[in-house]
Amino acid sequence: MKRPEDLRSFRWFGPPTMRGFSHRSRMEQTGYRREDFAGKPVVAIVNTWSEINPCHGHLRERADAVKKGVWQAGGFPVEIPAFSIAETYVKPSPMMYRNLLAMETEENLRSLPIDGAVLMGGCDKTTPGLLMGGISMNLPFIYLPAGPMLRGNWKGQPLGSGTDLWKFWAERCAGTISETEWNEMEGGIARSPGFCMTMGTAATMTALAEALGLTLPGASSIPAVDSHHVGMAIGCGNRIVEMIWEDSKPKDVLTGESFENAITVDMALGGSTNAVIHLIALARRCGLDLRLNRFDEISRKVPVLADIRPSGRFLMEDFYYAGGLRALMAEIRDLLHLDCRTVNGHTLGANLEGACVYNSEVIRTRENALEASGGTAVLYGNLAPCGAVIKTSAASGPLMQHTGPALVFSDYRHLEEQIDREDLEVTPDSVLVLQNAGPLGGPGMPEWGMLPIPGRLLRQGVRDMVRISDARMSGTSYGTCVLHVSPESYAGGPLALVQNGDLISLDVPNRRLDVLVAEEELGARRAAWSHPAPRYRRGYGALYAEHVTQAHEGCDFDFLETGEDTPEPEIH
Ligand code: FES
Repeated sequence: MKRPEDLRSFRWFGPPTMRGFSHRSRMEQTGYRREDFAGKPVVAIVNTWSEINPCHGHLRERADAVKKGVWQAGGFPVEIPAFSIAETYVKPSPMMYRNLLAMETEENLRSLPIDGAVLMGGCDKTTPGLLMGGISMNLPFIYLPAGPMLRGNWKGQPLGSGTDLWKFWAERCAGTISETEWNEMEGGIARSPGFCMTMGTAATMTALAEALGLTLPGASSIPAVDSHHVGMAIGCGNRIVEMIWEDSKPKDVLTGESFENAITVDMALGGSTNAVIHLIALARRCGLDLRLNRFDEISRKVPVLADIRPSGRFLMEDFYYAGGLRALMAEIRDLLHLDCRTVNGHTLGANLEGACVYNSEVIRTRENALEASGGTAVLYGNLAPCGAVIKTSAASGPLMQHTGPALVFSDYRHLEEQIDREDLEVTPDSVLVLQNAGPLGGPGMPEWGMLPIPGRLLRQGVRDMVRISDARMSGTSYGTCVLHVSPESYAGGPLALVQNGDLISLDVPNRRLDVLVAEEELGARRAAWSHPAPRYRRGYGALYAEHVTQAHEGCDFDFLETGEDTPEPEIH
């Protein structure tokens, strides 16, 4: 156990020096007395609240609840704002800014008199961004997920974020939904603060934070506006103070086995494919070499039990009432490493004691799984030498083995110009290919991977086709979409060499993705290929372009992965 003089913040607030005087007097400037903060655990509440991010609209009040918990436990809370990365609004792609939030989190914690933190986020990139920064700084922290919003509602039908937007937009394009109905849905799909309430990236990543042991038990499933969410916030404030005295750090909790738990839970949830990239990045921050094929190996053994859209029928509010993540993990406890430690000081196994499923339609039994195995499959082949992923639980069975002619779009603008042309040479057997949508090409790997079905085919009743890109796909999306093709086309990966009419073979059972073109011909195309012009010459974009890694490596910055420890700041 630490003593007050061992606290990191004591280096600022303790010494009887001129600098100590300065640090204390400035805190007293805000009305506090020296005994309120000097020798007390100083807890940063890193808050991604912003008026431009409705998913985090309640986090200002939740910060107050965390503060209450910190005060109750004898600590000193300070709220620190951080980039909210509002998924809906941030362009060209929120993914481009995940690493910026990670840097901001790490450097906030490093440069200030902080002993530990409660990190608050939930909207897609905020969870991995906050966790990556927190892990690299390696001070005690707890993650407090923002929680999902309430179910959407339209004419008594539940509406799911993203998933029902895509679904009804296809119907709108096919002419089966009126403008009035479409406008009514716009007002009914997002009814409260909180993150997307389908099993999108937000719900997936917050659940995986819990599976990793970085939240208090049950935290990820509580709807944002439920009173239990307030109680959870207070509990985080209480516990972080204990963790600081215990010196319980994230790298004490995170192991190869805890990452395997997260992958297992991801598969049982039918989670977002984005989790693959984020988990690899998080593992690398811990110095763990998590490979893409490990996801496939685990996927083959884990049934999909969460009947949540887009893979299933229900929404996150239903998931909470059905028992939430603890209940789901209890169903697959034999597949988990139960002795992994968690931030509450107990093992995962201990935290699952007493958890049970209250509605086996929402959290299914193993015998009645949504899919017997394989929420996400990893593919390799001459089109994806370093891998690609497909969310099989949200794809169409008949397309899992398919060979068809490529219809290539050189970038997203080209796709938008062409996709609804009446003379587009496309059939339901065509394979839609989008180039230049990867980490560098997008830039930021936008969620364009659920390429729209051509308007002409929509009107003929076609609702799914094989689609391939180096982009990502929203966790709320669905369809037979091969994503994260690596290396990306912008960097000269084989996807850049595909031309209209090339036969492409997708073989999910055998985990293959190939373009059926002779190697000599591909070699000639490669020799003729030239690198596109850089997207950025200055600013964050230039830093990003110089250092971001490829999808199979986690898209982190190469200089932020593990290496030499960053020194603590000297205080003069
Ligand atoms: Fe914030 Fe979906 S827009 S989680």
